[in-house]
Amino acid sequence: MTDPMVQKPEEPLVDPIAEHPGYDSTETLVGIWGHPFHAMSVAFPVALTFCAFGADMLYWLSGELFWARAGVWAAGTAFLFGLTAGVTGTAELLLVPGIRIRAPAWTHFVLAVLLLSLLGANWGYRLQGYESAVLPYGLLLSAFNVLIVMITGWHGGKLVFDYRLGTSKGKL
Ligand code: HEM
Repeated sequence: MTDPMVQKPEEPLVDPIAEHPGYDSTETLVGIWGHPFHAMSVAFPVALTFCAFGADMLYWLSGELFWARAGVWAAGTAFLFGLTAGVTGTAELLLVPGIRIRAPAWTHFVLAVLLLSLLGANWGYRLQGYESAVLPYGLLLSAFNVLIVMITGWHGGKLVFDYRLGTSKGKL
């Protein structure tokens, strides 16, 4: 009697994800002329997260109020631009079948939601008193946010450059 658990050699292994009809539909649906809004909007929260950390470091080194104020603005705008990037990314994730079905896209979503919570916390914490908030917890939060934004951004890059998500297939 043949063992039902043993696969016959003539039966190829099937990846149910790759077999999905929408697997190859990965072109952006949330963009302009094939350019995804998400890729255009992520530069702002990434840069502002670094700015918040830079301002906190300069406040720590100089003690100047200006840098504490720059820190609260950078933290706030990092959060608000991060939300914009989150909206465009989530729309892409939900609307494009080939993005929705890939697990790495959801991993990026989880990382991004963690990042947005931390960016919001960094801003909200400073609204109680932006100068007293910097040392030590504002600075520590900014430093941690830099780490998480680098991981999230690197992972987003993997989606584009390794999986070609959101990219054009080249037809004009
Ligand atoms: C909150 C939900 C988010 C979702 C669902 C999401 C989803 C995606 C998707 C599907 C891509 C592939 C490109 C595309 O289709 O546009 C992507 C790329 C990327 N994402 Fe996100 N994203 C989110 C938030 C963020 C945030 C907050 C950041 C960083 C601040 C970020 C950074 C990136 C980067 C750097 C890329 C690569 C862009 C490129 O190289 O062109 N994402 N994301």
